[in-house]
Amino acid sequence: MGGLFITVEGPEGAGKTTVLNKLGDELIKQGNDIVMTREPGGIKIAEQIRKVILDKENTEMDPRTEALLYAAARRQHLVEKVIPALKRGAIILCDRFIDSSLAYQGVARELGIEEVYLINQFAIQDIMPDLTIYFDVDVEIGLERIAANQGREVNRLDLEKKDFHLKVRKGFRQLLDRFPERIYEVDASRPLDCVYEEVKSKVEEAILSEKRV
Ligand SMILES: Nc1ncnc2c1ncn2[C@@H]1O[C@H](COP(=O)(O)OP(=O)(O)O)[C@@H](O)[C@H]1O
Ligand SMILES: [Mg+2]
Repeated sequence: MGGLFITVEGPEGAGKTTVLNKLGDELIKQGNDIVMTREPGGIKIAEQIRKVILDKENTEMDPRTEALLYAAARRQHLVEKVIPALKRGAIILCDRFIDSSLAYQGVARELGIEEVYLINQFAIQDIMPDLTIYFDVDVEIGLERIAANQGREVNRLDLEKKDFHLKVRKGFRQLLDRFPERIYEVDASRPLDCVYEEVKSKVEEAILSEKRV
């Protein structure tokens, strides 16, 4: 299809959004065609689904409903935003994608990676990222960073106990074993500058190899 589909993954407070915003600005300055987006959301229908998923009042949400809503939002976002951008050869930087579903719903909510992968296959039809950067950080460090960030609104997932976030991290670590070629791990517990530089060189390397094809 052309283009380059890059996703960032990892727990809350790992620094994904901060690094992605900075990197996007830098790559645009270099003259690249960049599409910055996020999941769940990125386009109108998916942002509406996002509100339902993250609403603090929706405490009765069933895990399978949650998994299906994420997959539905993913489908619409892919069709409306990601695929057209890939077709014109753009570089897509997406904050979360299928791996979050596999870690959060598959492992932490205990639906099973296989089952969640299957419903996501229905949604994505084999369109997987070319590169995924996984931000690994100790759960407590991540939660402390979020607590220190006053400007950030608390969502339904933030209300989960520490144990849930530990399972999420375990889930991401299982995915590293499962997709070693696609997922690149970054130690996100280090200072922001170090994390940023490492992510930037990895992404630039991917852009260069894409241009050589
Ligand atoms: N490497 C880092 N060291 C210290 N603080 C960080 C680091 N990366 C991000 N932060 C801070 O942590 C908070 C959460 O970062 P954010 O990018 O929103 O994480 P995420 O998108 O992964 O949930 C922000 O206040 C951000 O400034
Ligand atoms: Mg974020």
